[in-house]
Amino acid sequence: MEGRQQQQPVFLPLLPLVPDEEIEQRSRVLRIRIDSFCTRDLDAVRQFLSNNLPLTYSNSFLLQFITARESRMLIARHASTDAIVGIVGGRFVHSLADRRICHGHIMILAVAEQCRRSGVGRILLQKLESKLRSSASATVKTSFLEVSHTNAAAIKFYQNEGYSIEKREKGYYNGKVDALIMRKYSLATV
Ligand SMILES: CC(C)(COP(=O)(O)OP(=O)(O)OC[C@H]1O[C@@H](n2cnc3c(N)ncnc32)[C@H](O)[C@@H]1OP(=O)(O)O)[C@@H](O)C(=O)NCCC(=O)NCCS
Repeated sequence: MEGRQQQQPVFLPLLPLVPDEEIEQRSRVLRIRIDSFCTRDLDAVRQFLSNNLPLTYSNSFLLQFITARESRMLIARHASTDAIVGIVGGRFVHSLADRRICHGHIMILAVAEQCRRSGVGRILLQKLESKLRSSASATVKTSFLEVSHTNAAAIKFYQNEGYSIEKREKGYYNGKVDALIMRKYSLATV
């Protein structure tokens, strides 16, 4: 009908958490807010992860991201509805050979299915890498993660973020599914 406003698109061209140049490069982006995990988020986080990952996480596992000095979890929320759209969690681990060196370990990353391919995963991963790097008491040399060898989308995503396949761990998941260990040598500073 003439003069009638077009329906609001799901993806809006505004992303306050990344530099302007990145906004201009993107054609489809979500308006998101990123904050740190706190106890009141526990149930929502557990629910989100069970909807978006094939593994289940106990409360005590998740609470380490609040209580442990070396662990961090970031939550991306839709700017207007406040719904969780993505979660990333990781920690830094000291090198056994040299205590002056740390490695970032990306332990959890998931984006809500309807929000994928909007840059949310990339922003979360880069923010976490940056946080681990700035909060570690030693130099963070590399960042690594485990991913199922069958998860082609995630492998492509991590390769796109600068991670390379280092080795394959047989039966890493429940003794049945192999994991690829992927590593990156230059962490993001955003
Ligand atoms: C992997 C995952 C976190 C990626 O999040 P995302 O927000 O969709 O990723 P982004 O939009 O930031 O993608 C960045 C780039 O990664 C690559 N990429 C992401 N998803 C991809 C896919 N399904 N196929 C191919 N490439 C992909 C693309 O190069 C993409 O850039 P482009 O969209 O400009 O081409 C998301 O797919 C997910 O939550 N999957 C289910 C849970 C999971 O497997 N987690 C990882 C466990 S280790």
